[in-house]
Amino acid sequence: MFLVVSPTATTSPNFQLKGVAGRTGRLDVIARSIVSAFKLEKGFRRNVVFYALLLGPPNPPKLLVIDGRIIEAPPSSEREALLMIKNALGGKEIRGVHVETWGFKHVLNHLLKITRNIYYLRENGALFEKTVRPSKYNVFILGSHIDLPREYEQLLDKYKVPRVSLGKTSYLTSQCITIVHWLLDVVESSLYT
Ligand SMILES: C[S@@+](CC[C@H](N)C(=O)[O-])C[C@H]1O[C@@H](n2cnc3c(N)ncnc32)[C@H](O)[C@@H]1O
Repeated sequence: MFLVVSPTATTSPNFQLKGVAGRTGRLDVIARSIVSAFKLEKGFRRNVVFYALLLGPPNPPKLLVIDGRIIEAPPSSEREALLMIKNALGGKEIRGVHVETWGFKHVLNHLLKITRNIYYLRENGALFEKTVRPSKYNVFILGSHIDLPREYEQLLDKYKVPRVSLGKTSYLTSQCITIVHWLLDVVESSLYT
């Protein structure tokens, strides 16, 4: 599972699909993250649940939830993902997709009821392979084009959510999601033996 927190992404469905990066508080980052979270060359990852906490104007917070176990098919492009977000924010019914008005603490408490294996991805964290344990449910929390607000980081520290790092290079959120998938897919067996 992934939770991407965007302090700026719009919470309104009234955006144009063109020129999104400059006009929606970087909803494009969320759209690319959705594609990375689910899409494979053939088919998609059914076992992923993707959460995006949108905190931009006009009606924050909005939590977008996309449940791979239920959706018919995930978006295959940034444009398709933006259309899905627009429709979901506009109240359209989409199988496996819904929007909540939960704030960060509420989301965190919800995730903690599902699993204790929650990690915050941060460049200055502990080595991924030394910290992340194989588990049926892992949750990875990521920032967007900017990191999580300081008070959210403090809450994660209070809840003892470990920070894990993919190295010192700062990657895009969607790239981090691909790297996490790769680490869990390919390297997992050698990492954890
Ligand atoms: C584009 S980065 C955000 C800004 C970036 N931290 C900076 O200082 O320029 C997007 C998010 O991806 C995650 N991230 C990026 N690089 C990472 C790394 N090397 N290890 C762990 N997480 C990383 C973090 O959650 C970060 O908030």
